[in-house]
Amino acid sequence: MNVSVRQGSLVEARCDALIVNLFEGVKQPGGATGAVDAALGGAISRQIEEEEFEGKLGKCMIVRPCVEFPAAKVIVVGLGKSEQFGALEIMKAAAGAIRKCRKIKAAKVASILHGAGIAGLPAFDCARATALGSILGAYEFIRWKTEDVKPNPVESFEIVELSANKMADIRAGAGRGELVGEAVLFARDLVNEPSNVVTPAYLADLARSIAKEAGMKLKVMDRSQFEEAGMGLFAAVARGAAVEPQFIELAYKHPDATKTIALIGKAITFDTGGYSLKTTDSMVRMKDDMAGAAAVLAAMKVVGKIKPKVNILALIPATENAIGATAIHPGDVVTSLGGKTVEINNTDAEGRLTLGDAVAYANTAGADEIIDIATLTGACVTALGREMSGIFGTDQELVDKLVAAGGSCGELMWQLPLFADYKEHLKSEVADLRNAEKGGPGAILGALFVHAFVGETPWAHIDISSAFAEKDLPLAKTGAVGTGAGTLVEYLLGYPS
Ligand code: BES
Ligand code: ZN
Ligand code: ZN
Repeated sequence: MNVSVRQGSLVEARCDALIVNLFEGVKQPGGATGAVDAALGGAISRQIEEEEFEGKLGKCMIVRPCVEFPAAKVIVVGLGKSEQFGALEIMKAAAGAIRKCRKIKAAKVASILHGAGIAGLPAFDCARATALGSILGAYEFIRWKTEDVKPNPVESFEIVELSANKMADIRAGAGRGELVGEAVLFARDLVNEPSNVVTPAYLADLARSIAKEAGMKLKVMDRSQFEEAGMGLFAAVARGAAVEPQFIELAYKHPDATKTIALIGKAITFDTGGYSLKTTDSMVRMKDDMAGAAAVLAAMKVVGKIKPKVNILALIPATENAIGATAIHPGDVVTSLGGKTVEINNTDAEGRLTLGDAVAYANTAGADEIIDIATLTGACVTALGREMSGIFGTDQELVDKLVAAGGSCGELMWQLPLFADYKEHLKSEVADLRNAEKGGPGAILGALFVHAFVGETPWAHIDISSAFAEKDLPLAKTGAVGTGAGTLVEYLLGYPS
């Protein structure tokens, strides 16, 4: 879907579908939608009355012009309540509208700039949200379908806006939306692919192609190498895996960088739970347990284009968490990269083990800041639901920046506490630490476990609870959401080259 911006009038836009909008409860549209209504001889306002169209967020009404009009159909999308309106609502409205376009098989779409003229909403933000919401809303994963395939019919999406003085901002905003959208869709594709496709070697190959494309450095350690390096926690998780585990290290360097950010993505390509085996129901989606790595790789792909003025070290400890004769047993004790010993009392709390070694590795590699992103705990899903992720950190400024970055692209995060008193829960009778506790404050314990290996380096930890949509969400159809990719891209854009 090609996204573009054009200065002009909506009433003159020749297209298969023209998207306009309406706040909830409004009967007489104003602004650009009002102009379209007038050009249609009042067809929109009449139909609002007849169909009792309420303008609820993302809901659409199709108007077929009865007069001479350049657009074949007009889609009126609801913006929801005007008092509860911002970038996220723009994204949801844009996503709702583009889905309608898919349904009516429109190839050429023109759209109003949602939110234009609303006080406090800069044109850049409106354009970013309009473009990004449309890109995310149009996405479907159809690679494995051979029957009833419905590819996206929308070829072009053009934002049409009258005012010339806002054009530069609108163009920049739409461009940003495309950039972020590209990252999120890349992550979605990767998470949607099943575990028989996305193996650790597949992730390493992907990292290799990103490295090649952008002149980054790639180092991949196989089992014997990361065992040799002393990554006893990661090696323990990988022990039961029949597919070759890989510790992937992708380094981007900027000549004028003054700091190095480590981005660490959890990459369990399938989480059976190990001998602390998951039930059928809780195992069914566990191909998504590499969503953190997908976000990191998606961000690195975009890094190659935006070339931020900072060094980035992407670390991806990739393995399956499997069962079998070689797999670890509950109660096994292993030694981490930093020398701390861990009693693995639950083999299903494997993500924190892989991250523990990865953050320690980041420290030895000289990281000045560490961000890890992981589908770490079911407890975080229980706490925050599937439309919001948890975030923890030792550096409030870093956490605030990440939350703001996510907020600008529809990836909501809620900060949870690294409550030090709860470290008690991770005390072991036989080792320095244990990796889990039954029924404890799960999301916090996951974060505290990783924290134990971070040291003094400023650190933030994102516990993705929104990796997979079990049912259609406003911005994602059932399937991978791509969470985190947008946040990381927006955050890294804070280091302009
Ligand atoms: N990958 C899961 C966490 C998860 C489950 C994320 C469901 C999203 C949806 C993780 O490896 C895990 O199994 N965590 C356990 C930890 C527990 C054993 C302490 C969990 O959350 O149940
Ligand atoms: Zn697990
Ligand atoms: Zn897991």
